[in-house]
Amino acid sequence: MLAGCSTSDRDATAEETGTDSTTEETAAAGFAADATIGIALPQKTSENWVLAEQLFKDGLEEAGFNGIVQFANGGVTEQQNQIQAMTEQGAAVIVVGAIDGSQLGTQLDAAKADGAYVIAYDRLLKNTEAVDLYIAFDNYQVGVLQGTALLEGLAARKGDGPYNIELIAGSPDDANATPFFEGAMSILQPKIDDGTLVVVSDQVTFEEVATQGWKAENAQKRMDTVLSGFYTDTELHGILSPNDTLGRAAMTAVAQAGKDTPVVTGQDSEVESVKSIMAGEQWSTIYKDTRELVAQTIATIKALQAGEEADVNDETSYDNGVKIVPAYLLTPFIVTQENAAEIYADDAALFPLTQE
Ligand code: BGC
Repeated sequence: MLAGCSTSDRDATAEETGTDSTTEETAAAGFAADATIGIALPQKTSENWVLAEQLFKDGLEEAGFNGIVQFANGGVTEQQNQIQAMTEQGAAVIVVGAIDGSQLGTQLDAAKADGAYVIAYDRLLKNTEAVDLYIAFDNYQVGVLQGTALLEGLAARKGDGPYNIELIAGSPDDANATPFFEGAMSILQPKIDDGTLVVVSDQVTFEEVATQGWKAENAQKRMDTVLSGFYTDTELHGILSPNDTLGRAAMTAVAQAGKDTPVVTGQDSEVESVKSIMAGEQWSTIYKDTRELVAQTIATIKALQAGEEADVNDETSYDNGVKIVPAYLLTPFIVTQENAAEIYADDAALFPLTQE
């Protein structure tokens, strides 16, 4: 037992397997029960990341690991430095929620060369061989659910079409933003083509509707411009928003323009948005239970520690540009006022909000 010296433990296993670390080879190695585990989180752009921080701290401690859990609120360079430091501290596993999934190649190569197992958490790591596993909710499905909810909300709240809508996408540096948007457009594009939906601004490409840094102020600013440019005499019936933070920002812009509340989608089940849904304002959100995502990640780390293979349930969907990253995908749920109590039944923080 080499407990107490995680660096040499990990180096020993790295030597056995060489630095060519496919999932199987690294997984088969195992590592010390009290090994250092690095968790590199992005910026606090939504509540799910804040929840993840505490869940990782508590979960890793309970499992007996030496957890290093860090946000990179300063941006990409800070995250690069954090990952490098985790490698230098001998982390056996590095879990990354990337700010920009294609800017970490150098640091991830170094982590792999040192024998660490690299897990992309929630957001895919792009254009690098140096990622072993992706653990996330099914991002494309999130978009499909959002697009479907928008159509249902329009029919329920805005009478017969055609409906005037606007589109918002997430941050271009986040690998999730594209599958969210593409999933939603797989539902909405046919309805745009047949005239049921009218994007009055004509801003329909990802580039035109993206929101740098997932920042509320950027979404609000763009909506202000769209509203004053295209909606002075026109009703806005619906907004596709990729998450709750941006959805609320868009609703603020609409309210400030003195217009009726449109049907607005979201994601993350943030407290303010769940309240808004229950009050009949925001139409929908997505439930991606962060407890489940963190629990799956920690269960995977424990399996690797014991020398077992990581759980994988998808080996085809996530091409990161240089390889298909084996993935473990969890199921996201759509939430509206109608099913909120049912969906949040086991969530002590959210369920009470459905009973007020
Ligand atoms: C997450 C979303 C979140 C967004 C902004 C995405 O990568 O999957 O749940 O809303 O980041 O923080």
